[in-house]
Amino acid sequence: MKSRVVSGMRPTGKLHIGHYHGVLENWVKIQNDFDCFFFVADWHSLTTEYADTTGIRDSIREMVLDWVAFGLDPARSVVFRQSLVPHHSELNLILSMITPVSWLERCPTYKEMQDNLETKDLSTFGFLGYPVLMAADIILYKATRVPVGHDQLPHLEVTREITRRFNHLYGNVFPEPEALLTETPKLLGLDGRKMSKSYGNSIYLSDTAEETTKKVLAMMTDPARVRRSDPGDPDVCVAFNLHRIYVPQEKLDEIIPACKGATIGCVECKRILAGCMNERLAPFRAKREELVSKPQFVDDILADGSARATLISDSVMAEVRSALRF
Ligand code: TRP
Ligand code: SF4
Repeated sequence: MKSRVVSGMRPTGKLHIGHYHGVLENWVKIQNDFDCFFFVADWHSLTTEYADTTGIRDSIREMVLDWVAFGLDPARSVVFRQSLVPHHSELNLILSMITPVSWLERCPTYKEMQDNLETKDLSTFGFLGYPVLMAADIILYKATRVPVGHDQLPHLEVTREITRRFNHLYGNVFPEPEALLTETPKLLGLDGRKMSKSYGNSIYLSDTAEETTKKVLAMMTDPARVRRSDPGDPDVCVAFNLHRIYVPQEKLDEIIPACKGATIGCVECKRILAGCMNERLAPFRAKREELVSKPQFVDDILADGSARATLISDSVMAEVRSALRF
């Protein structure tokens, strides 16, 4: 039997290439090796977006279109929406009874997020309980592996602690899930800061080839290369962090000395990059175009996946209630 994997993403809208190379590409890859459950964490979005929920619905649609167009296969993996499986909420409630508040308060992401999102009032019960809901998401399917980035490790640690506590109190119901870490290249955006929707420096999976080329040509390079004749250094060039992902090695072996010797201009160099990116992304983008034209597609996928998820969650919750002697 394959080990079970559960992972979720908060719906923040269309995904950029940083999401792809950081998370989605890995999800796609592991579909053959694990029994995979991938879900839209829409209740988690509510922890920060509760005051204005208008964008969530569209964000879900854009995100799931990206997922499937770029290779998530709803036939092989269970692709579902958290809020369509109410057991997440029931298990969250039960886990919240056994989770000490101090575990949540000391979680480093808690203070960090509150400080970063100063414009939002995050002093809510639900936001403090973010890791409890996440624990429920994972153990509801008795997952043993959780593909996450480093930023989610503190949350996963809380999941493991809650799992141990549950098993200690009520008997051995849940396996203790472990991280399935991927070394993720930290993608830089057009301006050299981390690629992020809120910075407006992203290249989206759904961008056209023309938009991509335009963005790449506007990307920062080695700031020391003021004139075409100035030698450059790919190691400090923002654009080059994308070259490393998209441009074949033999081409890089030409570009690096050409940059250092000032025999290639940045415009030409970035055109090579844009060409490679568009070539690699084209088939996925075409698939996305095809999916966009079917208005029911996303709702159907999520309804079907959520029904399949419920088959499992239903029986696990029966075990939970019995362990609690309810
Ligand atoms: N907290 C995760 C993030 O922001 C999303 C998430 C919610 C998740 N529930 C999960 C990830 C369960 C893995 C497993 O990226
Ligand atoms: Fe960057 Fe290429 Fe310009 Fe060198 S030539 S600074 S690698 S864009």
